[in-house]
Amino acid sequence: MSYKCCRNSGAVAALTAVLLVFGACQRAEYQPDAQLQDGGDVEQSTDSAADAAADADADADMQDWSEHSFSASIAELIGSHCATCHSETGMASFSLTDRADVEAYGPSIVDSVVSRRMPPWLPDDGCRPMVHERRLDEETIGQFVAWRDAGYPMGDPRVTQVPAPAADPLAEAPSLTVNAVRSVEFPDTEIDVYDCVLADFRFEEDTWLRAAGVRSDIPGIMHHATLIIVSPEDMDQAEGTHCEDVSRHISSFVGGFAPGSGATHLPEDTAYFVQAGSGIAIDLHYSLANADGVERDRAVVDLWTRDTAPAFRAFGAPATNLDFTIPAFDAEYLVHGNGTVPASGELIGVIPHMHLRATETAAWLIHEDGSYECLYSIPRWDFEWQQIYHFRPDSVVPLSPGDRTSLRCVYDNSQANQPIVNGEQWPAGPVESGPSTYQEMCTVGLIVRYPHTQ
Ligand code: HEC
Repeated sequence: MSYKCCRNSGAVAALTAVLLVFGACQRAEYQPDAQLQDGGDVEQSTDSAADAAADADADADMQDWSEHSFSASIAELIGSHCATCHSETGMASFSLTDRADVEAYGPSIVDSVVSRRMPPWLPDDGCRPMVHERRLDEETIGQFVAWRDAGYPMGDPRVTQVPAPAADPLAEAPSLTVNAVRSVEFPDTEIDVYDCVLADFRFEEDTWLRAAGVRSDIPGIMHHATLIIVSPEDMDQAEGTHCEDVSRHISSFVGGFAPGSGATHLPEDTAYFVQAGSGIAIDLHYSLANADGVERDRAVVDLWTRDTAPAFRAFGAPATNLDFTIPAFDAEYLVHGNGTVPASGELIGVIPHMHLRATETAAWLIHEDGSYECLYSIPRWDFEWQQIYHFRPDSVVPLSPGDRTSLRCVYDNSQANQPIVNGEQWPAGPVESGPSTYQEMCTVGLIVRYPHTQ
C-alpha cells in the first residue's frame, strides 16, 4: 500500500526479545523447590495426603508437557497481553486470569488473536512507532495457533493462574480526582447530547499536568469528552457552571476521553502547564441511542501532576477537520485534504477521530520541499477503540515552517453499514460532516511540545 512509508522492524525485534525472556522465566518457575535443592533441613511428613501430593508433583515433573500448552506458553502470553483488561479490575466484562477461564474460552481466545481483534490496537505497524503498542507479532500469534492445533492442551495442572501483568504505568492512581459541578441531564428525545460543564475545582498554584482523563460511571454513554484549561480571567467570568464560550480553545487541551481510551500520559519529560487560578472545562458529548432509562450523568475528572518543571511543555494544536458529504450507498468514499500545523516545536502525538461509518484513516506530515512522513495509518477503523496516540521518544516529528498535514479518511455508507438504533437499522442516505455520532468527521488533533525554559 502506497501510504506505508516507514518501517518498524526494531520494535518487533524488541518485543520478541521480551517474549524470549518471559519464556525463560516461565521455565525457571518449574525448577524444584530451592530449599530442597540446597539440601536444607526438610521435615519428613507422615501425612499420606501430603505424600500423595508430593507423588503427583513428582509425576508432573516427569511429564513432558506440550510446549504448546497453557502451562508452557499460553498462560504467560495471556498474562502479558490480555490480563490488564481481562481481570477483575480491568475494563473487559470477563476475566482470563484463571486456568478454568482460559480453558472455557480457548477457541474464542485464538480466534480473537488470529483475526487481530484482540488485543485491541488500531494503528498499522508500517507507519510510526507508538507508545504502549498492543499489537502482537507473528511469532506470538503463531503460539496461539499452535495451541489450537494441538487441541488446546492445558499442560501442568499446578499452573492454575496466568501470571499477573507487569505494572501498567497508566494504572497509577491519579494525584487528584474532581467532579463536574453538576450532572448533565438527558432529555427523552435526544440521541446526541452536548454540554460543557466546569469541574468543581480551581488550581491553587501553578501546576504541571502529566495527564488528565475524564470518565462516567455509566458504561457506553460517553461518546467523547475534551478537557480544556480555563484561564483565571475566564474562570472569574464563567458564572457558576456554564463554559461553552471559554472552552473552545483547543490550544489549552490537556486530555479527554474517547471510546477505548483512558487517560494517556505524556512522555516522561513533558507536561502541560496550568496557571494558578485556572479551572477545567469538560466539553462533553454523550451518545444515548442504546441507553434507555439513563437520565443524567455527572462526569469525573482524574489529574496526574508532577512536582518539578519538565524539559518540555506540551500544547494541543488546532485540529485539522474536513467538511464533506458522503453520497448514499457509496461503500468506499474517500475524503482527502490538507491541514495546518504549528511552525516549530515537535509533534509528539495525534488524536485521530471519525465516527460510525468510517473504515480507514491515515495522515502524513508534508514538508515544504515535498518530502513527507507517515504520522499514523489505521487500516481498520473501529469507533469503539479510539485513543490518543503518543509517538515513541525516538519517533517524535520536528516541525518546520511550511509543514502541513495531509489527511485521508474512507467511509462505507452502504445499507449494510448503517447504524442500528434501538434495534432498527437506519436507511442509507447522504451523510454530512458534523459532530453527531450519526454524521461523520475526518479530523486529527495534534499534540506538540516545545523546550521549556524557566
Ligand atoms: C485494552 C484492553 C484489552 C486487552 C489488552 C485485551 N482485551 Fe479482549 N476485550 C476487551 C474488551 C473491552 C472487550 C469487549 C467485550 C467485553 O467487554 O467483554 C474484549 C473482548 C474480547 C473477546 C470477545 C470478543 C471477540 O472479539 O472475540 C475475546 C475472546 C477477547 N477479548 C480475548 C482477548 C485476548 C486473548 C487478549 C490478549 C491476547 C485480549 N482480549 C486483550 C479488552 C481487552
